[in-house]
Amino acid sequence: VNEARRLSAAATTMDELAEAVAAFQGCPLRAMGAKQAVFARGNPKGSILLIGESPGETEDLRGEPFVGQPGQLLDRMLATAGLADQAFMTNTVFWKPPGDRPPSPQEQAACAPFLERAFALMQPKAVLLVGAAAAKSVLNTEEGLMKIRGQWREWRLDDGAAAAPAMATLHPAFLLRQPQAKRVAWADILSLAAHLDTAQVE
Ligand code: URA
Repeated sequence: VNEARRLSAAATTMDELAEAVAAFQGCPLRAMGAKQAVFARGNPKGSILLIGESPGETEDLRGEPFVGQPGQLLDRMLATAGLADQAFMTNTVFWKPPGDRPPSPQEQAACAPFLERAFALMQPKAVLLVGAAAAKSVLNTEEGLMKIRGQWREWRLDDGAAAAPAMATLHPAFLLRQPQAKRVAWADILSLAAHLDTAQVE
């Protein structure tokens, strides 16, 4: 974690942070068959920091998060809510876990300094936590996703470098398997859009 802290603190732009992630040797996932680092895509000057679980097969090949089928669904939902150009997307870990298992808390902790630095550099108006893995690790809770989804919580860094309202929602990979759950996820996205409208007026 020290190497991660040092590398991430030295990055003063999102591009430098992406380079720092690519140079980082401290995440165990790196040596477990991932092809490359997958850091982020989207608008680093937008209002939404979106955090998913981990890169999948397509992301591992392309080097960008949320470019497979779930990512395309997510893009369509954000676009329909008028938020297409507002999101900067990343994950709790930056390398694909083997066999598409969820990342472990240790692997998430190894990558966390880069995620926190992205939060501080971006200063988003809202954070969208996509799926249980992101919600649990960022909000540091054991509460189930169905219980906390759609609620606004605060994500504040210990050093005070960033704070913003954070909301958890269902993962688009889950929505592809359970299309009837889209209704609930859609309500969350609309709540996010409404929150940003209000934030703009202030
Ligand atoms: N699922 C995620 O959580 N993140 C991605 O980048 C792709 C799929």
